[in-house]
Amino acid sequence: MVTTFTATELFETIESGADFILLDVRNEEDFSNFSVEGPNEIEMLNIPYFDFIERPESSVAKVPSGKPLKIVCAKEGSSEFVASVMADFGREDISHLEGGIVSWGNVLVSKRINSDSDSYEMWQFNRPGKASCSYGLVYEGEMFLFDPSRNVEFYQHFAESRGADITHTFETHLQADYISGSPLIAKETGATFVAHDGDYGSAIHEYRSLIDGESFDFSNEGGPSTLCIHSPGHTPGSTSYVIGEKYLISGDTVFIVSVGRPDLGNQVVEWAKMLYGTIKERISILPDSLLVLPGHYTDWSAEADSEMRIINDFGTIKRNNEEIYGIDDIDDFVSFIQSNMRQQPEIYGQIRKVNSGHLTPCNDEQNVMDLGKNECAASNHTS
Ligand SMILES: [Fe+2]
Repeated sequence: MVTTFTATELFETIESGADFILLDVRNEEDFSNFSVEGPNEIEMLNIPYFDFIERPESSVAKVPSGKPLKIVCAKEGSSEFVASVMADFGREDISHLEGGIVSWGNVLVSKRINSDSDSYEMWQFNRPGKASCSYGLVYEGEMFLFDPSRNVEFYQHFAESRGADITHTFETHLQADYISGSPLIAKETGATFVAHDGDYGSAIHEYRSLIDGESFDFSNEGGPSTLCIHSPGHTPGSTSYVIGEKYLISGDTVFIVSVGRPDLGNQVVEWAKMLYGTIKERISILPDSLLVLPGHYTDWSAEADSEMRIINDFGTIKRNNEEIYGIDDIDDFVSFIQSNMRQQPEIYGQIRKVNSGHLTPCNDEQNVMDLGKNECAASNHTS
């Protein structure tokens, strides 16, 4: 019998380390551009679905038997078809992904960051399809969001499940690699959209312009404060948020491995110098005990903790990234950035326009634009 699985279930299966085969039946180009990745190795095959139409027997024979088979495709129809072919040839334990690869690309995995006994809740929403993280801070019926993606329904359901209303949605910067959910969330929930003029000054959206050094508090007293620290470099308006003097939501400024690349605006020297100033004067002075919650990651094995949360303390991060934090000369820093530069995906320019409201593609087009892993780190590794 052929069954289905959701993108969330697929993540849980990968996270559990279960033994299975993932068969991706999209064409080779789409597969090489973007495929399922998770916290554990996946035994993966790419056999385009038309091979199963033209040469069903030999195509089925390419798939090892004896393990559960999970099939993914672009929109679900092809994986359903291939699953039925596999079943016709007597294969068992076959399932296919509901909603196709887009549902994988949009899935968010929530992990509680702080202790259940704390008076507030800090949540990480990991988007494995993009290797990006957004955050939720909940206190007495209110929820602050940070860098939400387009999966607005998810955040609304999540807030409901915590008995909270989304009252603020903060951006760490104008994202280039994914479409931000903040404008839509603000529109649908009435939440205040908070961002820095350095990135959003020419945007069409209405937003509350944040000021370096100001704090946002919950309506009820006793909740964690959200302190805004302007941290330009990755973009001119990049802002990091210190939550309750304990967490640093660092956007694309500080990563667990590396820092956010400052070359995406095609002003590499100028922005790299800004980033150097930010690291030296605004970020390195923060307490080592702060727990960093970044906007992106590259490698689960190097950046996730034992509970698959992307987090580490700032002291450890500085030690592990000594080749960046140890640079004491601005020109050496610029050279380091330049030597690690690589092309940015062409779509980034379009995504920026969508995020600033200057381009409004239809939902299907946005789905396509929004698929694919990020390319935000300044370097691929630090050691
Ligand atoms: Fe970014």
